[in-house]
Amino acid sequence: MGGHTRTSYTSEMASLTLTDVEKIYPGGAHAVRGCALEIADGEFLVLVGPSGCGKSTLLRMIAGLEDITSGTISIGDRVVNAVQPKDRDIAMVFQNYALYPHKTARANLEFALKLRKIPRAERQERITEAARQLGIEELLDRRPGQMSGGQQQRVALGRALVRNPAVFLFDEPLSNLDAKLRHRTRGELKELHRRVATTSVYVTHDQEEAMTLGDRVVVMKDGLIQQVGPPLEVYRRPANLFVATFIGAPAMNLFEGAIDGSGTTFEGPGGISIPLDETAVQNAAGRSVTLGVRPQHLEPTANGVELTVRICEPLGDETDVMLDGPGGTDFTARLKLDAVPAAGSTMTLGPKPGTLHLFDSESGERLG
Ligand SMILES: Nc1ncnc2c1ncn2[C@@H]1O[C@H](COP(=O)(O)OP(=O)(O)O)[C@@H](O)[C@H]1O
Ligand SMILES: [Mg+2]
Repeated sequence: MGGHTRTSYTSEMASLTLTDVEKIYPGGAHAVRGCALEIADGEFLVLVGPSGCGKSTLLRMIAGLEDITSGTISIGDRVVNAVQPKDRDIAMVFQNYALYPHKTARANLEFALKLRKIPRAERQERITEAARQLGIEELLDRRPGQMSGGQQQRVALGRALVRNPAVFLFDEPLSNLDAKLRHRTRGELKELHRRVATTSVYVTHDQEEAMTLGDRVVVMKDGLIQQVGPPLEVYRRPANLFVATFIGAPAMNLFEGAIDGSGTTFEGPGGISIPLDETAVQNAAGRSVTLGVRPQHLEPTANGVELTVRICEPLGDETDVMLDGPGGTDFTARLKLDAVPAAGSTMTLGPKPGTLHLFDSESGERLG
């Protein structure tokens, strides 16, 4: 069996380079702004951001389904700006599967191979191999109407896989699946990528999906890249307030305030005072800042802030506790508790050492 030997049908280098890519739609929507990205051969890169931030537009420009207003896109050493989608050696998987409804799964998988004039024996070999990889052998003779959503999405993945392209593009492929199936398919995608190691760009609005799937994640907002990095780096050192609140759940707690004259304490609303320990930044005394602390990083401590429990959401192992603080502040803490605290009861919480984030109040950029 030939399997997926990459060199047989694909270009040697399947890196992807975007330089100053802009997209302004005819109606005037500026969907992508000055996008620069280098995606390494074999990398799994995730584009994440809220709805409307330009993710699909960027992906569709890579696929050649959307014109680029300016800039260049290269696959390997080849600038593909003017290359037709079918000649880009790319396979795309969409949210809505986009299978031919009147064709069986096998015929859906075979169609793209026939178009590319792949000989019959090799077509069968590739279909058998992809079906085995995805565990869809028993579905091959069914039409999409005879399959569940999860099965259809697997066939759609199979259709991309048989092509053995230089690059996979995914646009929210798991969005139509229920939570359990989404989680399972996510794991399978990751494993599949480990096996075939095809350069992949994956779009999602779901930060958890981005964190768990990506070798690196690209956080976008309003057409602009906010941060690029490995998931844990983005989680641990968010570059600005947007990334800080978008990545991680529940969202990071934020408090407006200032650093005191000695540069060692944050002073917030209602007299909240939090020592900055090793988070302290140089020459920041007196500066207006936003202090951030993740719900996972709050813990009961004698010298913390006294808070009143508003609502609790028990998760089993842990409990999300929403609390009211001094000066009208809101806190969310994810705590390991033996019992769920009653609404109206008080807790004294403070940040674990070394977990604080500081941002410039005006620009929202990370400090230190
Ligand atoms: N075909 C189009 N014509 C005009 N504007 C569009 C078109 N497609 C998307 N847009 C606009 O471009 C922006 C980015 O859209 P999109 O790339 O679909 O975002 P996302 O995939 O992140 O949700 C949005 O403001 C959207 O309204
Ligand atoms: Mg989209």
